[in-house]
Amino acid sequence: MQYDVAVIGGDGIGPEIVREGCRVLEAAGDRFGFDLSFTEFPIGAERFLETGELLTEDDLAELSRFRSIYFGSIGDDRVRPGVLEKGILLALRFHFDQYVNLRPIRLLAGVSTPLANKSPADIDFVVVRENTEDFYVGIGGRQGPGRGHADLEVLRSLYSVRFGLDIESDADELAYQVGVVTREGSRRVMEYAFELAGRRRGKVSSVDKANVLSDVYGLWREVFAEVAANHPGVETEYTFVDAITMWFVKNPEWFDVVVTPNMFGDIITDLGAMIQGGLGLAPGGNINPAGTSMFEPIHGSAPKYRGMNVANPIATVWAGSLLLDSLGEYEAAGAVVAAIERTIADGVVTRDMNGTATTSGVGDHLVEILGSRG
Ligand code: NAD
Ligand code: IPM
Ligand code: MN
Repeated sequence: MQYDVAVIGGDGIGPEIVREGCRVLEAAGDRFGFDLSFTEFPIGAERFLETGELLTEDDLAELSRFRSIYFGSIGDDRVRPGVLEKGILLALRFHFDQYVNLRPIRLLAGVSTPLANKSPADIDFVVVRENTEDFYVGIGGRQGPGRGHADLEVLRSLYSVRFGLDIESDADELAYQVGVVTREGSRRVMEYAFELAGRRRGKVSSVDKANVLSDVYGLWREVFAEVAANHPGVETEYTFVDAITMWFVKNPEWFDVVVTPNMFGDIITDLGAMIQGGLGLAPGGNINPAGTSMFEPIHGSAPKYRGMNVANPIATVWAGSLLLDSLGEYEAAGAVVAAIERTIADGVVTRDMNGTATTSGVGDHLVEILGSRG
């Protein structure tokens, strides 16, 4: 069996950590009897600075031939914040309609968590983040000196009464951004969450802020109740996003599958990353079950560590395990996570985990463990 995987190393530490990820996946393939063929795409800040290209039509056409993309990270100090993030990462998630952002929050054995008295048995849940809607749809506008007017009709209805602004005047500077939630967009990601919970401990917690943003998250809640009714074997609960940040810290053991709108999901998964031991350990998958999926660490490009061989590759390697899972290579996927646990037990970890190993040193050790069938 051979799997073709597109690789986008990206910026900062991205290329170094993905390099180790590819080596580890290859070692898993050797052990479990499949081949991986990696095709690299030079998408990222360097190319943008040289040519002005973010994602070209050619890139998208090429990438669409792959079922899996292995992605490092994007973001560079020389480029205005948002240009690469929106023009590459979000553009890929949207183009390939990767509507599930799967982010396991699991404390591995031997990793220290900042939560007192919590162990691996207490921190083991999965955040299923909606990945194509909400405040990420990019509908908004600004007006102000030198910017002219945003959509005046929208502004009139949204703001003039509320704030008493003279919206015709350039002196009034304001901005707005609209969140969009659809019935189908919510249903499909919730359906994924319920199916996942059915294979785990059978509980889904929904996140919203329906007490304030009652239009968008009112619809989200309504759809959640409908999907829940079709899965009577799964226990459900509603949580407000502010409260869930408290419960993640106080009682992480309550959670099994957490389904959340896009922006709240972004925020609560950085909190999740910290309780599972840090950003260097937190993986994610952007999944379109019927199309091209993309796997990446949830952290960014950590530019200050670029090229120093000190970044932690574990989040990326673990994301590679999610990639194998999506291909149905369950045994290999499990062996990769087991190898990560062994590496941690052996103390071969980078300095963010208080170790002295290098990025490639962790990769070497993981490859060796997989090769030795340990
Ligand atoms: P970041 O995740 O890059 O880094 C935050 C801090 O976490 C770093 O300073 C570092 O101390 C630590 N860290 C992160 N990953 C690590 C690793 N593998 N090993 C060791 N330490 C690690 O977040 P930031 O500094 O806010 O953003 C830097 C750039 O990355 C920005 O341009 C941002 O937009 C972008 N970004 C990209 C992604 C992505 O590609 N998925 C995600 C988040 C941020
Ligand atoms: C993440 C990141 C991205 C997001 C950014 C870089 C666009 O923070 O993957 O969590 O907001 O989704
Ligand atoms: Mn984020």
